[in-house]
Amino acid sequence: MQPIPVGLVGVTGYTGMELARILAVHPVLKLTRATSRAEAGKPLKAIYPFLEGFPAGDVAITAPDAADLAASCKLVFLAVPHGAAMDYAAELLVAGLKVVDLSADFRLHDAGVYADWYGLAHRHPALLPEAVYGLPELNSARLKTAKLTANPGCYPTSVILGLAPALANGLIDLTDIVADSKSGASGAGRKASTAMLFCEVHDTFRAYNLGKHRHTPEIEQELSKLAGATMTVSFNPHLLPIDRGILSTIYTKLTRVMAVEEVHALYAAHYADKPWVRVLPVGKLPETRYVRGTMFCDIGLVVDPRTNRLIVVSAIDNLCRGASGQAVACANLMSGLPVDAGLFLAPMMP
Ligand SMILES: NC(=O)c1ccc[n+]([C@@H]2O[C@H](COP(=O)([O-])OP(=O)(O)OC[C@H]3O[C@@H](n4cnc5c(N)ncnc54)[C@H](OP(=O)(O)O)[C@@H]3O)[C@@H](O)[C@H]2O)c1
Repeated sequence: MQPIPVGLVGVTGYTGMELARILAVHPVLKLTRATSRAEAGKPLKAIYPFLEGFPAGDVAITAPDAADLAASCKLVFLAVPHGAAMDYAAELLVAGLKVVDLSADFRLHDAGVYADWYGLAHRHPALLPEAVYGLPELNSARLKTAKLTANPGCYPTSVILGLAPALANGLIDLTDIVADSKSGASGAGRKASTAMLFCEVHDTFRAYNLGKHRHTPEIEQELSKLAGATMTVSFNPHLLPIDRGILSTIYTKLTRVMAVEEVHALYAAHYADKPWVRVLPVGKLPETRYVRGTMFCDIGLVVDPRTNRLIVVSAIDNLCRGASGQAVACANLMSGLPVDAGLFLAPMMP
């Protein structure tokens, strides 16, 4: 198959770095443009020594310019902060390109909800209805014809995949869900901030934005679609002193008394043809290190008969499954390729 030239806006961020890693060995998607305002002019291998010897390492970093991207690429990944992505997306779509946006700019269907949670008026609300939420397990058919993909947030990926089978089978009370999620420090991005310095993150563990994190409306929007009813979720994030990985412990209430084996059978059947979701055997629980650098979402199930709770534990890699790998999976589908092209990634443990 002919190479498909792709662009990457925001190559110096953590998700941009991960995209560069994945695209360097992709069989069809060819990294042709990579942008950064701070590093323009350098070859990629100058900032990423791991690309030495790969053709992608010789790609010259350019300043972001929608006209140049439109002239050189067929599809562009936007790995930039929310608020910055929407104008690039609008311009590239008008020029006939396909866009995978890793930011939150097109994830929420309602521009009012976006404004409430992100403190920003959406400048292109007319594009919101055409954005497809980029979770391949849920939306692969729509992604095949999508021009604009809203790549999911990292925390939402772990929570939505963790709860989808329970909602599809009506196993849990929709009014009593608590997602207790923990992320490595790369989830906050690569820009400098005092709170993310080594001495502030290492050897401690803290909660933040309890009940008011921006991923809450995205989780509720997508879970409500799966449940067929409006849902609220208590979503509570924590910062782990590790560089990458997310582990979500999701506490739910069963609607009837069930053995864990029965729940496990329903989860296994739900994901039987979805090889990236690994429902672990009863008695096993996931760990971030076993999914590091991969597309896997590992799920462990516990039924606590004393409280009649189903506790779901899901683990993903925030940069690969929760961002850049998922973005490539979406780009594959949008380009007529197998969803897993270039994504046969084994864990990078330890
Ligand atoms: N980190 C994660 O785990 C994760 C997971 C899922 C989704 N996301 C989302 O993915 C996006 C990127 O995240 P990240 O963690 O990679 O961020 P990051 O580390 O802060 O990197 C941001 C990148 O965007 C570029 N940039 C910033 N403002 C720009 C602008 N106005 N125009 C063009 N380029 C601009 C920066 O380079 P220059 O300033 O040099 O141009 C840099 O390369 C964010 O929207 C984030 O919410 C992140």
